[in-house]
Amino acid sequence: MNDLQRSIVELKREKDAIILGHNYQRKEVQEISDFLGDSYGLSVQASRTAAKIIVFCGVDFMAESAKILNPEKVVLHPNLRARCPMAAMVDAASLKELKAQHPGAPVVSYVNTSAEVKAESDICCTSANAVKIVQSLPDKKIIFVPDTNLGLYVQRFVKDKEMVFWPGYCPTHVNITRENLERLKEEHPEAEVLVHPECTPDVIDVADHAYSTEGILRHVQTSSKKEFIIGTEENMIHRLSKEAPGKIFYAVPNATCPSMREIALEDVRDSLVKMQYRIELPDDIIIRARVPLERMIRAGRQE
Ligand code: 13P
Ligand code: SF4
Repeated sequence: MNDLQRSIVELKREKDAIILGHNYQRKEVQEISDFLGDSYGLSVQASRTAAKIIVFCGVDFMAESAKILNPEKVVLHPNLRARCPMAAMVDAASLKELKAQHPGAPVVSYVNTSAEVKAESDICCTSANAVKIVQSLPDKKIIFVPDTNLGLYVQRFVKDKEMVFWPGYCPTHVNITRENLERLKEEHPEAEVLVHPECTPDVIDVADHAYSTEGILRHVQTSSKKEFIIGTEENMIHRLSKEAPGKIFYAVPNATCPSMREIALEDVRDSLVKMQYRIELPDDIIIRARVPLERMIRAGRQE
């Protein structure tokens, strides 16, 4: 650990704070996080922590979810530029219009949405349980927002349902191309190909498995294979290398999420020193958004 990291650890202790970090965070931020995980795991940690303050090193919707699950706690988001562009692709007014066009159809919202969109939703999902959540609903028609690619992945497992999609997508995962994956497969024929379900269908077709980021970690830890091509944000490889030592990982070109990389150690230190930037949400939004989030947590993981 460097001096800055040590001072952050000291500040955490003094202030009774916990740092939750997403698997795509910079290596140095991962190193000072108390918990690393995917959106599902971090939501569970946020709902359980006894610490007074949560510093959320991830994108906006993740910090908001932590606040929704813990309205009485202080939730700090160290850099306000860390905003997920996919979550910004749908808003509550547009979702209300879509609901009016499909009366009675429940709304499954990917956790990558604003608190206002969650407040208009019946249940949330993450990439770790999207198939399970959709399968659990008795309805034939389901509105799924905002990620069409995740929705198309789910549709493979629920052929009997009519899914209504929203034209949202992850700019990072659509940069992962089938051509680049195939080139890596030729170079490393022994490697297993693991991708995130936010990838496009043609990419998922050439992968061995599609998993959430935590699902990718669990898979490499238990697989008998030694080499893996990782079709998700490149920073994921820091955690994989640390927690699956001896295994070899190949990153797909251009798979970077600029928003996830916004948070630097200096931002984390400043957030604890200045208590910035506090997540504040209207009470009525918290009350309504909490319902679909808690339903999602109760449903558990499928991977
Ligand atoms: P996970 O929940 O799988 O970590 O994914 C979050 C995300 O933003 C993927 O782009
Ligand atoms: Fe959002 Fe995609 Fe970045 Fe995940 S990788 S935070 S979905 S832009």
